[in-house]
Amino acid sequence: MSDAPKKIVLAYSGGLDTSIILKWLQTELGAEVVVFTADLGQGEELEPARKKAEQMGVKEIFVEDLREEFVRDYVFPMFRANTVYEGCYLLGTAIARPLIAKRQIEIARLTGADAVCHGATGKGNDQVRFELAYLARDPDIKIISPWRQWEFGSRTDLINFAEKHGIPVAADKRGEAPFSVDANLLHTSSEGKALEDPALEAPEFVYQRTARPEDAPDKPQKIRIGFEQGDPVSVDGEILSPANLLTRLNELGGIHGIGRLDLLENRFIGMKSRGIYETPGGTILLAAHRGIEEITLDGGAAHLKDELMPRYAELIYNGFWFSPEREMLQAAIDRSQQMVNGEVTLKLYKGSVSVIGRTSPNSLYSLEHVTFEDDVVFDQSAADGFIELTALRLRLLAARDRSAGKNQ
Ligand code: ARG
Repeated sequence: MSDAPKKIVLAYSGGLDTSIILKWLQTELGAEVVVFTADLGQGEELEPARKKAEQMGVKEIFVEDLREEFVRDYVFPMFRANTVYEGCYLLGTAIARPLIAKRQIEIARLTGADAVCHGATGKGNDQVRFELAYLARDPDIKIISPWRQWEFGSRTDLINFAEKHGIPVAADKRGEAPFSVDANLLHTSSEGKALEDPALEAPEFVYQRTARPEDAPDKPQKIRIGFEQGDPVSVDGEILSPANLLTRLNELGGIHGIGRLDLLENRFIGMKSRGIYETPGGTILLAAHRGIEEITLDGGAAHLKDELMPRYAELIYNGFWFSPEREMLQAAIDRSQQMVNGEVTLKLYKGSVSVIGRTSPNSLYSLEHVTFEDDVVFDQSAADGFIELTALRLRLLAARDRSAGKNQ
């Protein structure tokens, strides 16, 4: 094949599956492999990944801490829109893929590689997200998708290949892993195996970063989150970097059992799947952001944002982060955030997060207008004309229907 890849940048976790992929690229495709491992806050040591890659003869190894970029340029822009997919999924996996893909393409340029490779299976959303992002960043890049290409039919085939090539297989990996996990600073998602029957409650051992709400502290905790132009900047008055802020909210949310979700969702490629999500900090952040928008955003702008949001969420879910329509929506969303400044007070208690107060230097809330007490700024008789005109067509309809004998 003339277009056989010569040098491939692999998104490498250091785990068994991507180690098998690395070896497969070297032995079956005969290609040189460049390894890229990103720290997105998955909470795993990354140096072992570097060691493993070195042992497999990899010369060019990129281990990079992308946590700040991830939260600042991907998570926060998404939270400006109060984004949830199908009513509740905070898109923790979907939002990480474009960053990994973008960096893989940059590394391909740096190292003169002509191909990139990911470890997503042929059934999920992630293959689509990786590959749409690769092609949006480099229209000519070659893409290797081992799960759709190799001959291994079963887990046993994979393990045999690993053993033949001296890739260490942990004892608990010999059988089927109990479920599949994807984690980063925003969330932990678990799918498959033990979770495949959507009628059965997920076993407690699936949850990895949140306390069981029943076991969370009996005392509620109040926290304050400060916002500037729609992005969170402080917790309890302490200014924090994006990644540190999300880390802090994850700790708080984890303790109070916040952000657990059991969802049966529609994948882009057509099938339904059931997943367990834990998004402790993100769940607090969503509540807080809505809280600060309540007091700073005009009603018309707020309602338009809520209409655009499901479309924006679907674009991210389906892998269109790098697309003109996502960027258009982002521009509108970002424009709405100019006055979204101030502080929100929240109560964390046994799996729930509630806004209990909000203040802003740019508040649109006018006590003068809304007060139940006497006021001097609002002439209540003006509502007469407002209602008369607003009701006009309803009255005409009702009169027509009455004369037609309907609706009696
Ligand atoms: N269904 C989620 C999504 O498409 C998570 C996918 C990855 N999770 C996993 N445990 N493999 O965004």
